[in-house]
Amino acid sequence: MVEIKLKLSYDDVLLSPNKAIVNSRSQISTKTKLTKNIALHIPVVSANMDSVTEAEMAIAMARRGGIGIIHRFLSVEDEAEEVRQVKRADNFVIEEPYTISVEKKLGDVKELMQLRGVNGLVVVEGEKLRGIITNRDVIFQIDLDVPVAELMTPFERLHTGGPDLTIGQAKEIFKTTKIEKIPLVDSEGNLRGLVCQKDISKIEKYPYASRDKKGRLLVGAAIGTKPDFMIRAKALLDAGVDVLVIDVAHGHSTRVIEVLQEIKRTFKHVEVIAGNVATAEGTRELIEAGADGIKVGVGPGSICTTRIVSGSGVPQLSAVMDCAKVAHEYEIPLIADGGIKVSGDVTKALAAGASTVMLGNLLAGTDESPGLLVLRNGDKYKIIRGMASFGAAMGRKYRLNGNSKTDDKELEDVVPEGVEAMVRYKGSVGDVLSQLVGGLRSGISYCGADSINGMWANANFVQITNSGLRESKSHDVNLV
Ligand code: XMP
Repeated sequence: MVEIKLKLSYDDVLLSPNKAIVNSRSQISTKTKLTKNIALHIPVVSANMDSVTEAEMAIAMARRGGIGIIHRFLSVEDEAEEVRQVKRADNFVIEEPYTISVEKKLGDVKELMQLRGVNGLVVVEGEKLRGIITNRDVIFQIDLDVPVAELMTPFERLHTGGPDLTIGQAKEIFKTTKIEKIPLVDSEGNLRGLVCQKDISKIEKYPYASRDKKGRLLVGAAIGTKPDFMIRAKALLDAGVDVLVIDVAHGHSTRVIEVLQEIKRTFKHVEVIAGNVATAEGTRELIEAGADGIKVGVGPGSICTTRIVSGSGVPQLSAVMDCAKVAHEYEIPLIADGGIKVSGDVTKALAAGASTVMLGNLLAGTDESPGLLVLRNGDKYKIIRGMASFGAAMGRKYRLNGNSKTDDKELEDVVPEGVEAMVRYKGSVGDVLSQLVGGLRSGISYCGADSINGMWANANFVQITNSGLRESKSHDVNLV
């Protein structure tokens, strides 16, 4: 006889309270790991979906201590460009500042400043730094033929730094000199970058941001297993991506293992998350093939119909618990991907053994998600769509075909495992994250812990009935 196991999801359980060990939520740490070598201040990852994460979302997530994963339903060049935008966003050193040649005239300066949307240019002769010209130098000048050399602040009067200038040193220079820009030069006087005071202020506004060693925001990007996967992976790595996510609905497969191994073999220091899986065996095989993080979830997502269409999947809380038993053995972090509806689910997913949660639905309605606002009966919505929905599949076909013609055979081939839908507009990602993280801090405290890892040891799940679930929500009142 086939044994049928009982598997549970978030709504089937609650965390029984343990004696609190902190007096205030501020004493709780939400620090965690995304992969073996990437740490985050908050355990939240935005989903690699085309209605959730492109550069704007990834920037907002990283500034607040999480991370965004750029979706892969873009051309290779466009996906790499999204990554580049994130890496440029809060850069403390502009590695390739806009320059103008010392032989040019005021007219050229004005034109270039307008084109690039900047209020200053570095003046060079070949690679050599010759000066800086800013709005202040040109504002009252009418004669467009005046040479740049006559208007700029020349090299001799500039405060410069070496290519290894630290944030601390830059701050000191800004404080003592009241200048706004420091060009970086090497020992031969060649331009090697530019530091702007306003970029440092931006960095200080987000003290918990997820940053790389150079101070740039962290970002991940998804790849598939189609034959061009190496070209895509290389382009993303060249653009500066910090982590690749092998994004396949059924990630426990020979093909995913081959792709993972080839990437790890070719690019020595790359961090790779692989998935999605929902079982201990799947987790073990991907970890043994070299995964630095595992994405868990087959069918729990708000827009998923995989379980209905295919009959396959595992309720998400049990899936996370099963995978965690193996992942903790190897000290490889798990991402609980999909099905998170409220902050309590975040706590449950992490208490069950995940290190981060991936969110689609909860972030799709924010200002930072791609896509337009839709008005329906006076209320504001944004679109969310499953990446295996009919619309997403047809979009991919159009992109690959390079035109909008699709024949009947192609239409028949599409078996959607996702839907297209609307979610209520929610304002900024910052507001959504502060509510989620606030709820998580309370949850950790109720568990008698002061950190996510602490919850792994202390979590005390109880299974509830439908009456328990009904009792958990507000009830027998008319909400105002
Ligand atoms: P939430 O619940 O946060 O889930 O919206 C987001 C996750 O759902 C997965 N996803 C899909 N699963 N068919 C599926 O079965 C789809 O079309 C689909 N699109 C996204 C994905 O793991 C995502 O992170």
